Amino acid sequence: MRPAGLDGLHIPLCRGRLCARCPTLRVMMAAGMVLRIDGLVKSYDGPEGAVRVLDGVALALAAGETLALTGESGSGKSTLLALVAGLDAADSGTIMVAGQVIGDLDDSGRARLRRDAVGLVFQQFNLIPSLTAAANIAIQARLAGRFDPDWAATVTARLGLDGLGDRYPEQLSGGQQQRVAIARTLAARPALILADEPTGNLDEDAADRVLALMLDLVADSGAALLMVTHSPRLAGKLAGRAHLSRGRLA
Ligand SMILES: Nc1ncnc2c1ncn2[C@@H]1O[C@H](COP(=O)(O)OP(=O)(O)O)[C@@H](O)[C@H]1O
Ligand SMILES: [Mg+2]
Repeated sequence: MRPAGLDGLHIPLCRGRLCARCPTLRVMMAAGMVLRIDGLVKSYDGPEGAVRVLDGVALALAAGETLALTGESGSGKSTLLALVAGLDAADSGTIMVAGQVIGDLDDSGRARLRRDAVGLVFQQFNLIPSLTAAANIAIQARLAGRFDPDWAATVTARLGLDGLGDRYPEQLSGGQQQRVAIARTLAARPALILADEPTGNLDEDAADRVLALMLDLVADSGAALLMVTHSPRLAGKLAGRAHLSRGRLA
């Protein structure tokens, strides 16, 4: 028997197939684990040879857990998120997202996993200029085949975007654009949200307000959140914290 509360995670993402044949994944899913990273290593070529940016990173996140990742500029925070999102390949180590091992997937498998299970929020808003705010908010959920108008309306209202749905991105303030970008991710109900300095463009008060709204909605959606921030103040608002230094988490 599966533990209660796993149905939303288990059925849409793997429909039981992976869990039935893979003991590691079965254990991971039974624990409600959305992200698990083991022994992750990533180097880049620098002027003086290869530099190990990540040198044996391990972490695990279950559904509903939030983790703030801090670290100095250049410590590898964005690199880690890019690997988890399957946008770049690790040298060694394992990353499992929503029951799938990223290293086992080809390009289209990784694109499918991003579409189906991962939500990305960056400091840049990356809105589509030719779409209205409402269409931008809906697009990711529609691509994933699970647009829910009631949930989209809830997210839109709670992020203070009511009445702005017909506007185009250029007709919105920076703060409004960032809330549209966050709404787009939340509306798609991803199992895992990866956020890289999501309020980095906002002043302190606006950042606090937007992060509070985002954390509320993340909690309601049951997603796991891995959020990069350079701000200890913002990191303190998440339940879990990890610091990246010299390629390792502490
Ligand atoms: N594509 C790349 N090629 C070479 N070096 C890179 C590349 N991406 C990142 N780096 C280097 O890896 C280190 C970590 O970068 P990054 O992950 O962006 O750090 P952070 O997000 O913590 O500021 C930096 O020294 C950066 O210059
Ligand atoms: Mg970065």
